[in-house]
Amino acid sequence: MIARIPIAISLATIAAFAPMSQSPAQEAPAGAAACSGCHAAAKSVETPAPRLIGRAPADVIAAMQAFKSGARPATIMDRIAKGFSDDEIKAIAAWYGAQKD
Ligand code: HEC
Repeated sequence: MIARIPIAISLATIAAFAPMSQSPAQEAPAGAAACSGCHAAAKSVETPAPRLIGRAPADVIAAMQAFKSGARPATIMDRIAKGFSDDEIKAIAAWYGAQKD
């Protein structure tokens, strides 16, 4: 399982470029593009990281705060969450919540 993660992540990174060529419904906020390498933008792509598209923004914000504070154990999200301010997290969560596929 652990050994498969890097392969899945690189496949997701490749897949993430496809939707970028289409014009997005709304401009993604700063930082959101950094998430889609691991959190796939399309339903058809399976990755170890759960999809963020269409998720309730409050859930994404709560998860990011828990990763940031260390309340929620993580392999990588604790480090990623620390790189984003509360306002950036809110903007990213709102944008993902509004996306559909
Ligand atoms: C390097 C890959 C990677 C990147 C980049 C990444 N994530 Fe994650 N994310 C993960 C993994 C793996 C998990 C599962 C928890 C863990 O092991 O850290 C996760 C879990 C999550 C969860 C919890 C989802 C759930 O249903 O439990 C949220 C919310 C989340 N990430 C948001 C984000 C946001 C927002 C960004 C961009 C700022 C982002 N992630 C960037 C890999 C990534």
